Amino acid sequence: MKKLLFIDCCLRGRESRTKKIADAFLENVSGYEIETISLSDEAASGRLKPNLGADADRRNELLESGDMTDPMFDYAKQFAAADRIVCAAPFWDLSFPAVFKIYCEQLAVCGITFRYEGEKSVGMCRAEKAMYISTVGGYAGLIDQGEEYAKALFEMFGIKDFDAIRAEGLDIWGADVDGIMKVKAGEGEMKAKNF
Ligand SMILES: Cc1cc2nc3c(=O)[nH]c(=O)nc-3n(C[C@H](O)[C@H](O)[C@H](O)COP(=O)(O)O)c2cc1C
Repeated sequence: MKKLLFIDCCLRGRESRTKKIADAFLENVSGYEIETISLSDEAASGRLKPNLGADADRRNELLESGDMTDPMFDYAKQFAAADRIVCAAPFWDLSFPAVFKIYCEQLAVCGITFRYEGEKSVGMCRAEKAMYISTVGGYAGLIDQGEEYAKALFEMFGIKDFDAIRAEGLDIWGADVDGIMKVKAGEGEMKAKNF
């Protein structure tokens, strides 16, 4: 069965509005086995961490030697092998929580998610489509830097069909939170049907 990788960056657990919209989307996707990676669990366990010091040196040595068997490359392999990608991340400080960037740095492995042909980078991921789900307390503005970053990175990995669901204005005083959530969960249900 084809695999859908759900990247869960909803750090408030059950309280997360982003997660509620993601659930509405995922419940309506059919034909895929859903594999979930919880970035808060990965970070809490110590598996997901930034490339620093000795880790960075080791990573560079392994990449230079072409040895991709180390578990540090498992995130990139899992992502590259998925048929569909769904990310859910709240809008934090004009983009997304830092743990999502740390995860993205683990995905960017030359030889697994992309490679170079001359000076040109070429995507190596199997997925044709990605969905990015977020919620915003106020308004993201003309450019949502979280969404745009994910779109650009996934395109570099070879995923050209990128779509997003964004619920905005949820923390604004007097906002009809239930109404906004209902509309966006509905958008999730609808978009899931053609995903
Ligand atoms: C650390 C943090 C940073 C945030 N930064 C922003 C921001 O820059 N702009 C904004 O409009 N809302 C911001 N918010 C509000 C969230 O975007 C909003 O509450 C969102 O719905 C949270 O998603 P969740 O319910 O899935 O956790 C921030 C919230 C937190 C906790």
